[in-house]
Amino acid sequence: MKLNDTLAAVVTGGGSGLGEATARALAAKGVKVGIFDVNEESGNRVAAEIGGTFAKVDVSDPDSVAGGLDIVRATNGQESICVNCAGIAPAAKTVDRDGNSHDAATYAKTIGVNLIGTFNVSSQSAAGMCAQDPLNDDGERGVIINTASVAAYDGQIGQIAYSASKGGVVGMTLPMARDLSRNGVRVMTIAPGIFGTPMVSGMPQEVQDALGAMVPFPSRLGQPGEYGKLAISICENAMLNGEVIRLDGAIRMAPK
Ligand SMILES: NC(=O)c1ccc[n+]([C@@H]2O[C@H](COP(=O)([O-])OP(=O)(O)OC[C@H]3O[C@@H](n4cnc5c(N)ncnc54)[C@H](O)[C@@H]3O)[C@@H](O)[C@H]2O)c1
Repeated sequence: MKLNDTLAAVVTGGGSGLGEATARALAAKGVKVGIFDVNEESGNRVAAEIGGTFAKVDVSDPDSVAGGLDIVRATNGQESICVNCAGIAPAAKTVDRDGNSHDAATYAKTIGVNLIGTFNVSSQSAAGMCAQDPLNDDGERGVIINTASVAAYDGQIGQIAYSASKGGVVGMTLPMARDLSRNGVRVMTIAPGIFGTPMVSGMPQEVQDALGAMVPFPSRLGQPGEYGKLAISICENAMLNGEVIRLDGAIRMAPK
């Protein structure tokens, strides 16, 4: 897919971190970007800075997603690119120090935002993509990029809900790509290692330095722009489909 100003994209979690970097990278290529976020202030700020459109959307709610798609499509037209970056990462053990089992509501919320939210946006976006004319000689109609995490494979202590949600995103990748293959819509997932986003940059500097030192090479935190660059490559390379790419400097997380 050749990125230019004839294309539109939707980026969830576009008000911060990896989503923000991706929204900026797409806009720099001329793509008209619709940003979904629960945080109105940051979502509006990024949208204003890149000449994009913001819609307040809670990805875990299918009606909210449908309403957001109506808003951004009214301005930008049908999106050919859908990038799912909205996510939450609460930490809790299966059984805590005091003997209490993991709060079921926290578990359900994590699955609701990270896994069901990704499903809600990607399935509704795909329906619109399938209905549009092909963009090129390959018959390509769109690309969906989901965000898992290395925690899908090497979940740490306290990451049971988060790892399960991200494992679900990994598991959806191939069947969703197969489902949409007849329609020329590709599906890829990026599994980031540790990136310097607000999720991490709020930690004390020595903790961030220690996290960076755990990465074999390059020994530092990933930069959000590096995620954005991979998202752009995935859009541009039509042979990338149905696969998960770890973007992690070869890190394999220890139990804690
Ligand atoms: N930063 C990392 O090291 C890292 C590593 C692996 C995976 N990830 C994943 O990458 C994605 C982006 O993370 P980030 O580091 O940029 O985090 P971030 O907190 O900077 O950004 C996440 C954005 O999602 C939004 N959001 C949260 N819940 C939402 C909901 N229900 N509906 C709509 N928007 C919602 C937040 O308001 C925020 O703007 C997440 O899925 C995260 O799990 C991040």
